[in-house]
Amino acid sequence: MKQIIIAIDGYSSCGKGTLAKFVAQQLGYVFIDSGAMYRGLTLKLIENKIDISDLPAIENACKDLFFEFKLNQKKGSYELYVNGQNVEGSIRNLTVSNLVSEVAAISLVRKHLVRVQQAIGKNKGVVMDGRDIGTVVFPDADLKIFMTADSTVRAKRRFNELTKAGMEVSLTDVLANLKKRDYIDSNREDSPLQLKEDYKVLDNSNLSIEQQNSMAMKWVRESMEH
Ligand code: CDP
Repeated sequence: MKQIIIAIDGYSSCGKGTLAKFVAQQLGYVFIDSGAMYRGLTLKLIENKIDISDLPAIENACKDLFFEFKLNQKKGSYELYVNGQNVEGSIRNLTVSNLVSEVAAISLVRKHLVRVQQAIGKNKGVVMDGRDIGTVVFPDADLKIFMTADSTVRAKRRFNELTKAGMEVSLTDVLANLKKRDYIDSNREDSPLQLKEDYKVLDNSNLSIEQQNSMAMKWVRESMEH
């Protein structure tokens, strides 16, 4: 069977990870959450008290970071390790979420992480989700999906996810964070989130997970046949 690259881009918290994970499992592919890498770097900047205006220090921090995605057998999903440390438990909190889009708008950060992401995908057989996967990281991806959903639906989903994980957050703060990130991600100069004509659009505001999965798998099958 032909190995392909599948790029899933779109707005914050619209279920890109859930879809990417499902598709990767169906195909036996590697799933890479590129946003986790921007979050991992942001976490390290916070821990090391590096200001986001201190570009030389950020450049050094990038060079010092080693990213690995390891399969958690129990959960059946990949988790991010930074320099050998599992950071899954701390990269999705609101402190990181409130800074990550500003970090991700820095060109030297993008240059560094895009290179790491391209190296991971060089053997194909990969599903990667993010904001610039189909435009910058893998412009020749065989299938590009753009995910979107109503912002209040997205905020509720993320709120449920965070509270389930034991975090104390308010729906208002989660919604404000989504809107802020969508704005920064879509308006930054370097590789903004953009819906180009070669994407298949998946608006899942009113779709069940099963419905969205089967829609995506139909596109996957079509891409594999071509
Ligand atoms: O899961 P969620 O939608 O909350 O976001 P994420 O995929 O974890 O990404 C977190 C942030 O990283 C985004 O808001 C972007 O600012 C940035 N990002 C990016 O710039 N480029 C990517 N390929 C992936 C994420």
